[in-house]
Amino acid sequence: MKITVVGAGAVGATCADNIARKELANELVLLDIKEGLAEGKAQDMMQTAALLGFDTRITGSTNDYSKTAGSDVVIITSGIPRKPGMTREELIGTNAGIVKTVCENILKHSPNAIIIVISNPMDTMTYLALTATGLPKNRIIGMGGTLDSSRFKYQLSQHLNCSPADLNAVVVGGHGDTTMIPLIRQATWNSVPVTNFLSAEQQTKIVNDTMVGGATLTKLIGTSAWYAPGAAGAALAEAIVRDEKKLFTCCVALDGEYGQKDICLGVPVIIGKNGWEKILDFGLNADEQAAFNKSAEAVRNMNEVLKTL
Ligand code: LAC
Repeated sequence: MKITVVGAGAVGATCADNIARKELANELVLLDIKEGLAEGKAQDMMQTAALLGFDTRITGSTNDYSKTAGSDVVIITSGIPRKPGMTREELIGTNAGIVKTVCENILKHSPNAIIIVISNPMDTMTYLALTATGLPKNRIIGMGGTLDSSRFKYQLSQHLNCSPADLNAVVVGGHGDTTMIPLIRQATWNSVPVTNFLSAEQQTKIVNDTMVGGATLTKLIGTSAWYAPGAAGAALAEAIVRDEKKLFTCCVALDGEYGQKDICLGVPVIIGKNGWEKILDFGLNADEQAAFNKSAEAVRNMNEVLKTL
């Protein structure tokens, strides 16, 4: 098994670190455009192998895509991150060009790869990866909802004083501060609705704090977050290479599901060796569906910007 992570910034390096520790591949390539960065971080991680006891061979490459040849899974993290006060959407002009070039270069050497997109604005970058490559839709997966659902579980766990691992909770819709939809009505604590344990005020706060989860961290850290985004990318890679058939919320191409077409948006999917294998219908109520449609409209407007670049 071979995995490539494109972009050796904080998110890419964290993702690679998680992949190595989980031994998801025997070969792991980290690639970056900045001279020496990927090689340096790859070596640094390899120097943890004796301490952590993993057997994945990590190599770095400065923009030489031939080193990535034959990758089964490729995770794209390249692009500029947001600064405090910036929305993910403001990154589109710079990141669209980068993501398109990365996709083309990757497919020259790994025509069968499954692609996981992390770069922002994630929903539009996933749509771009799909339309620019013409790959079968199941092989293009946007990571957003996987991260946002984990952040949602964190927020819930703080109020319930419970383990995040005991929670089932998903965020659907876009990966934007105003487009994501934490489905609190459907969230459970070991199968009991979390709403049984939370006041209306708490529920509103949890939903709002989840939606601005990324922005809150950007404000605190001064750049966008990396531990949870990197771990989310690695969790998806794990579900693919181990054919886990695990349920995640991911940004995928919709063709009528959830009432939307010609768009990539976050919905519950099964992830396995073929990429995303199936979309699940979580039966949104009228309010949730209206929020989903609004989210789709915002993402569609952002996708339109691609035509002007
Ligand atoms: C975040 C970025 C990765 O939400 O979109 O932290």
